Amino acid sequence: MLSNRQLHLQYLAPTNPFPLLLEVERADGIYIYSKEKKYYDLISGISVSNLGHNNKAVISAIKEQLDEHMHVMVYGEFVQKPQINYANLLVSNLPQSLNSVYFVNSGAEATEGALKLARKASGRSEIAYFRHSYHGSTAGALSVMGDEHYKSAFRPLIPGNRMLEYNDINEVSKISSNTAAVIMETVQAESGVTVPDVDFVQSIRKRCDETGTLLILDEIQCGMGRSGGLFAFEHFGIVPDILLLAKALGGGLPLGAFICDRNLMSQLSNNPMLGHITTFGGNPICCAAGAAAFKELIERRLHEDVERKSKLICDSLRSHHIKSVHAKGLLIAIEFEDFETNKKVIDACFENGVITDWFLFNNRSMRIAPPLIIEDEEIEACCKVIESSISEALD
Ligand SMILES: Cc1ncc(COP(=O)(O)O)c(C=O)c1O
Repeated sequence: MLSNRQLHLQYLAPTNPFPLLLEVERADGIYIYSKEKKYYDLISGISVSNLGHNNKAVISAIKEQLDEHMHVMVYGEFVQKPQINYANLLVSNLPQSLNSVYFVNSGAEATEGALKLARKASGRSEIAYFRHSYHGSTAGALSVMGDEHYKSAFRPLIPGNRMLEYNDINEVSKISSNTAAVIMETVQAESGVTVPDVDFVQSIRKRCDETGTLLILDEIQCGMGRSGGLFAFEHFGIVPDILLLAKALGGGLPLGAFICDRNLMSQLSNNPMLGHITTFGGNPICCAAGAAAFKELIERRLHEDVERKSKLICDSLRSHHIKSVHAKGLLIAIEFEDFETNKKVIDACFENGVITDWFLFNNRSMRIAPPLIIEDEEIEACCKVIESSISEALD
């Protein structure tokens, strides 16, 4: 009889030749359990499980909604309580101009919807994006990905876009009256956590206003409390025209959203009407789970303790083996000399029961992005494991 690992390799589409193949039995809090071992989950399913696993409020919201109804109609036609509750909750915690929520299924779909909206509203086609940015793997999102290695096999992509250097103020003038939108991660994640200067972000906002360009901020990874603000743009004193959310938005279930002013959003409902269609967008179970998770984040003010926890981790990990540390809240990159060193450390951490990862565009850096609920004692314990894994791998 084939083992589960063998069945996985036989029947599931592979994404890379070296999957981790951790056989999950269950997950709770910041821990994932296999039959043999308990692991610290320090990557939160890539910034999804901000409340940890098996959160009681999220699970009971899911169960309650299951008893009411699951999918009933494509997005936008029927009035569904979980959608209106969650949209209302999000809008009440956002600036006034971000008042209309288009729920979709994923981050990539939020990107696609926002790019279509910007092109239609402006009548322009050029999208400005940044080196090392990641906005999803679908064709439109791939067209604004800032890394040629992952794009080139799929060309031709959507033409006429323009790549700029992130956090380089000299690039801002390249945004012109031909530019429909600038799409930018408020904090760039897959570059190995790049935090832009306030001046840079503000000058992007100013230039967009001057040229009639829409500013799309992608907070799919850095939003929902992870940066230490409820939303990362709060750190920069600006408001985007369109905000992209996903990952933690669904409380562990698939949900994305693009959010903007309702006048702008109305572009997708006329000429042509049904300008964006999604069957499962805003699925009631996902919205119920997401709303419960967001409510818990706000009520427990978890984001307000994120910077302190981040500092605890960063301070305890600095050592002679580490080249640099880049962090915004609980999105942390520990940079080693090269990929081989990083890989040795990540493998040793995994062996010793701590799940970390590298970054898509930066394989020298180790990702640490734990659930926001991580306690100080847990930080201390898993940092000890990481330190000993570093020594084991490199000394
Ligand atoms: C910043 C950012 N944008 C967009 C996406 C795409 O989200 P999804 O995988 O849900 O399509 C990701 C996923 O990693 C992301 O990190």
